[in-house]
Amino acid sequence: MDVHIIHVDGVSSTQDVAREMTMQELGTVIVADVQESGRGRHGHVWLSPRGGLYASIVLRSDPLLSLRIGVAVARALQHLGIDPRLKWPNDVLVHEKKIAGILIESSGETAIVGIGVNIDRAPLLNSTCVVAETERTITREDLLHAILEEIEIAYEGDLIKAYREFCSTLGRTVRVSLSAEAYVTGIAMEIDREGHLVVDDGNDVHTIVGGDCEHLSARV
Ligand code: BTN
Repeated sequence: MDVHIIHVDGVSSTQDVAREMTMQELGTVIVADVQESGRGRHGHVWLSPRGGLYASIVLRSDPLLSLRIGVAVARALQHLGIDPRLKWPNDVLVHEKKIAGILIESSGETAIVGIGVNIDRAPLLNSTCVVAETERTITREDLLHAILEEIEIAYEGDLIKAYREFCSTLGRTVRVSLSAEAYVTGIAMEIDREGHLVVDDGNDVHTIVGGDCEHLSARV
């Protein structure tokens, strides 16, 4: 993948810059020092103080993109001696605390892949950061390059197998919100070949395509 990295500052969200200013050219990467209105999944805010990595990458949409990027970010952190886990579909956690998040906004064949990594501080109580999890130091630029390299690699090999190895959701009791009113609670049984989460609620087996997943039990 040929990448073209553009640094910006004083932006609301790198997602918006990527959508509006890049003509959605594949391989364009927008990186910001801070974001005024960083966005997370499911309408959450992504706190984006100086010192973190905030990047949006223009890629081709694909049904497994969300898991692919999760694996790539997890591998890049693993190279730093961190032991990351993926909460389905792609929250990157260390000891159940969030270290990185991924937001994918697709339109047609193009996806804007937003990646936020807490590097030198954990902006929320239930979050962590790279410096808290490893003695090794890395610059924002080197971490971004490591992630971009791992994204390329994540197009090769058995993605679902790699994903399952990082996934800490399997085997746990989970509650997955499907919308404001609908949710499924049960045991996370499987990640199927389409990347969907299979949950057994004791009566039915649900194949969940997308939702906000909460781990209710410790890993068994
Ligand atoms: C999440 O876990 O909720 C997803 C967080 C995604 C944050 C990144 S930071 C770069 C890009 N710009 C945004 O506004 N959000 C994503």
